[in-house]
Amino acid sequence: MSHNDYERFILTIKQMTGIDLSSYKEAQMKRRLTSFREKKGYADFESYVKAMKGNQALLEECLERMTINVSEFYRNRSRWDVLDQTIIPLLLKTSQSLKTWSAACSSGEEPYTLTMILQKHLKASQFSVLATDLDRVILERAKLGFYGERSIKEVPEDMLHTYFTKKESIYEVDPTLKKNITFKQQNLLTDSFETGYDLIICRNVMIYFTEETKHALYQKFSKALRPGGMLFVGSTEQIFNPDTYGFKSKETFFYEKV
Ligand SMILES: C[S@@+](CC[C@H](N)C(=O)[O-])C[C@H]1O[C@@H](n2cnc3c(N)ncnc32)[C@H](O)[C@@H]1O
Repeated sequence: MSHNDYERFILTIKQMTGIDLSSYKEAQMKRRLTSFREKKGYADFESYVKAMKGNQALLEECLERMTINVSEFYRNRSRWDVLDQTIIPLLLKTSQSLKTWSAACSSGEEPYTLTMILQKHLKASQFSVLATDLDRVILERAKLGFYGERSIKEVPEDMLHTYFTKKESIYEVDPTLKKNITFKQQNLLTDSFETGYDLIICRNVMIYFTEETKHALYQKFSKALRPGGMLFVGSTEQIFNPDTYGFKSKETFFYEKV
């Protein structure tokens, strides 16, 4: 298999889906897709993509493989405590209602966690949560709101009691939480963003992008936030020069739009 084989594959996938795999760190993405392609029995990317042209299911399966969907409620619990106790009260000093967004929300644990926390501070009519992801299949799962034991292990006891119903070994999240959440398919790299957000959460997706892509995305997030609005990032995703994007580090992993 030549190097060009993968590059041509990237171009064809972009033409077919609008998804640009060259924005993702190459070594990691190529390794993932190569092992999957081999498992499916294709000797190179050329024959693999050719087969996809007549087979939508094969294409979707490949896209699903491309995205890594691991998530959990209250991921890095202590950060959510900072959001609850420090950041939200701060935002409420300058906004009566909060416009929030969970970008790359995967199977929904993140926007549901956010909604549970917001409900401690505000009435349902005083906030909105947009939840977006590239992967349509995972968004359908997010809308359903059923989770296994592993996803809920960090949920505080009182929240578990208030917002989850357990049947056998499956936890269903309280369907009323969905009223405040709009789930929508979106590509962070190519789609335009709304503006005026008080809070944007984008965690554990930046790590997959190239430096150039990260840079462009931070710019887009900065424009989407209102002055004083906050960007909440993942626990391995510190921004090294926040001022480049008009951000000021507020708490670890929280950046304020100046
Ligand atoms: C590891 S999950 C992170 C989930 C959640 N934010 C968390 O921290 O637990 C990464 C998600 O990013 C999504 N993703 C990858 N590329 C994307 C893109 N270009 N636009 C939007 N979402 C993307 C994947 O589909 C996947 O659901």
